[in-house]
Formats: sequence, structure tokens, C-alpha cells
Amino acid sequence: MGTSSLSITSLAHPAQSADLVERGKKVLMQTYATQSIVLSQGSGAYVIDFDGNKYLDFASGIAVNALGHCHPAYVEAVSSQLLKLSHCSNLYYNLPAIELAEKLIDASPFSRAFFCNSGAEAIEAALKLSRKYTKKYKGEQCTTVLTMSNSFHGRTYGAMSATGQTKYQNGYAPLVPDFKTVVFNDFDSLLVHDPDTVAAIVIEPVQGEGGVHLVDPLFLKKVRDYCTAQKVVLIFDEIQCGIGRSGKFFAWENFGIAPDVVALAKGLGGGFPIGAILATEEVASAFNPGDHGSTFGGNPLAASAALACLSEIKNEGFLRQVRASAEYLEAALLALQAQVPAIKAWRGLGLMQGLELDCPVKPIVQRCAELGLLLVGAGENVIRFLPPLTVSFEEIDGAIAMLSMALA
Ligand SMILES: Cc1ncc(COP(=O)(O)O)c(C=O)c1O
Repeated sequence: MGTSSLSITSLAHPAQSADLVERGKKVLMQTYATQSIVLSQGSGAYVIDFDGNKYLDFASGIAVNALGHCHPAYVEAVSSQLLKLSHCSNLYYNLPAIELAEKLIDASPFSRAFFCNSGAEAIEAALKLSRKYTKKYKGEQCTTVLTMSNSFHGRTYGAMSATGQTKYQNGYAPLVPDFKTVVFNDFDSLLVHDPDTVAAIVIEPVQGEGGVHLVDPLFLKKVRDYCTAQKVVLIFDEIQCGIGRSGKFFAWENFGIAPDVVALAKGLGGGFPIGAILATEEVASAFNPGDHGSTFGGNPLAASAALACLSEIKNEGFLRQVRASAEYLEAALLALQAQVPAIKAWRGLGLMQGLELDCPVKPIVQRCAELGLLLVGAGENVIRFLPPLTVSFEEIDGAIAMLSMALA
């Protein structure tokens, strides 16, 4: 591992990572397969740990640190908001939340935003809104939510029930009723359900946790037409693939098919916890005062963090650079695939890319970390590449060099 030559300040309280890992293991619920690394600081695409080791961060906190670490405009926006007003609840309006909603819906088919604190909460809001809306038009029997095989929507009960992978549901029965899994990219598989009972269809335009699988544009078009004809709410989960990660601001723009509701989180706050749904005026009108809420939703501090991210990301110049970096990464990964027989496939969109290997990737991800590159797996056999959207060609070269060494 390289020793840090970052311009981040030297560690105020040096401590051995190993001791901290032991302390963490004793007191934190062991719900994650956490690596034995304790991170202390970050700058741009780099982070350092408590032993002073430097890492190139191609995990970005699982697609969260869109602007990298400690982006100056982000730090300035959050710090100055902290000095003004950090929280006030939704009993009152606050300026950053209004500006954030305006910026999110600007030049989009959406008219209204609802803010919450995480991806799973955004999915919950989308599910509640959809059932409320369709019941009004189609009656009380309209409760079914169709979700895709291999999908992932979060860990709360509604989001977990929507997730099309039983490994996330084992041990938690009974799940929320009336969630049915259909086959991703197979339109006929959803036709077995009576449309009069279907309230919503949930799709990730790019499945993240499921192994970086793209939606088929023809499938999406058929689903869109079905939803319009049958008054079914089409929800896109863009929690991982949205906010510029795909090379467009919304991932659906790559396919030219818009949903009725989009769920956002992760990169929206760039590291500050925030989630959101955006909806068309018609669907959003189903929510009335008291129907849904969150104490922290649209909190001025979180909203100012998200505004700082959007000020950078929601610009064509920034998105053009994301697409250029994505092409550069794709070319490098394809070149690696040509040399390494264990790499079975490359998949991706924008700066959300994956390599499918013919073996478990956990030891490779671990070896990369030892060499100074942070990556994230998806399932057993896929390595995901989720660098900050600000990543440079030089940083991509550095990541590929370390990955090649790990694979060798
Ligand atoms: C597509 C997708 N939906 C929902 C979630 C859940 O988000 P959160 O962990 O913020 O609740 C995730 C998280 O990985 C995700 O990738």
C-alpha cells in the first residue's frame, strides 16, 4: 500500500487500524462483511486510513461520493449552511429544500419532489404514493407491485419485499403482501398478472447490486406503453444509477423513456444522507397533508449538500466529462478482458461498470485493497467500478494498473 502524499492534513490522533477494527467488531452489529480498513480522511478520488495508507477510491461509498471527497464547493456549502440553520422540520419551509426541488424538477417531466433520508426510504415513498394513486382510479383491489428478478431496492420491509432476490429476504417472513417478481427484460412475464390489480412496476434502469445489468430499451418501451394504457405507476429506482452516474443526469435519459416516479439517493447528497422521489403532477397529487412524512426529510443541511452536488453535476459540460471518463474506463477494462481469460464479460453504463469473472471476486477485491485500490463486488462474481464522477484519466490508469496486478 502506498503511503499518503495527499494534501490532506496529517492525522491528528494516529491510531493503529488493527486496534480500531477489534473495537468495531466488539460493539457494532455485524451486519456487513466489513474489510479490516479504517478510513480517516479523503481528498478527491483518494482516501487514507488510520495507518497512513493511501487508496484510490473506486467504490465511492457505493456510488455516493459523486464529487469525490471534500470537494471545496461541497465543503463550503455544507459548512456555511451549518452556521445558518441545520434543521427546522417540515412544519416550516426552508430555502435549500425549495431550491433543491426546483433544480431537480427543472427541465424534467416531474413537477414535485418529496425528500427523505436514504434510498430505501425513497422506495417506500414511491410505493406508498403509487398504491394511493392507483387505488383512487382503479379501486381497493389494486395493490400488486411488479418488481424485477435480480433487483435490489433496499432493506426496509417494503423495499425488501420489492427486491427480486430471496437472499435479502431470508429470515424475515412474512413480507409485505402483493409484491410479485417478474423476469427482468421479459415483457411477457408481467402479462400473467391482471392489470386491474397492478398498482406499480419498479425497475432499476441499471441493476447495481444484481451485477450491473442494463435494462433492454425495447422492454422499457413496452412497459411504459402498458403502464400508460393500464394506469399503472412506472417507478424507476435510480438510487445507484441516477444523478449523473450513467453519463446523463437521469439514467432513463439514455433510453428515452421517462417514468412517472423516480427514486434518488446516494450521489444526490454526495456523502450527506438524503433520498428523494420526483413525480409527475398527476401522480404526486395523490399525497395530501398527513399522508406521508419524515422528520428529517428536506432538512436544510442535507438539501444544501445536495444543491452543491447538483450545481456541479447538472451541467452538460460536467456530464460530457463523465461520459469521456466512462469511455476511457470501458476501453481499459475491455483491454484487460482481452488479456485475462478469467474475465468473462464487461457490462456498464457511464461510470457504473462491472467485470464478470469466472470465479468469486472477494479475494480479488481484497487484494486490490492491499495494493491501494478500493472496489466493490456485486454478488459472487462481479467487480463493480464506481469511481467519483470527477475521476481523471490518470486515476483510471492507476486503478487499472493495480487491478492487473491483483488479477495476475
Ligand atoms: C438500486 C438501489 N435501490 C435502493 C438502495 C437502498 O438504498 P439505501 O441503502 O440508501 O437505503 C440501493 C442501495 O444500494 C440501491 O443500489
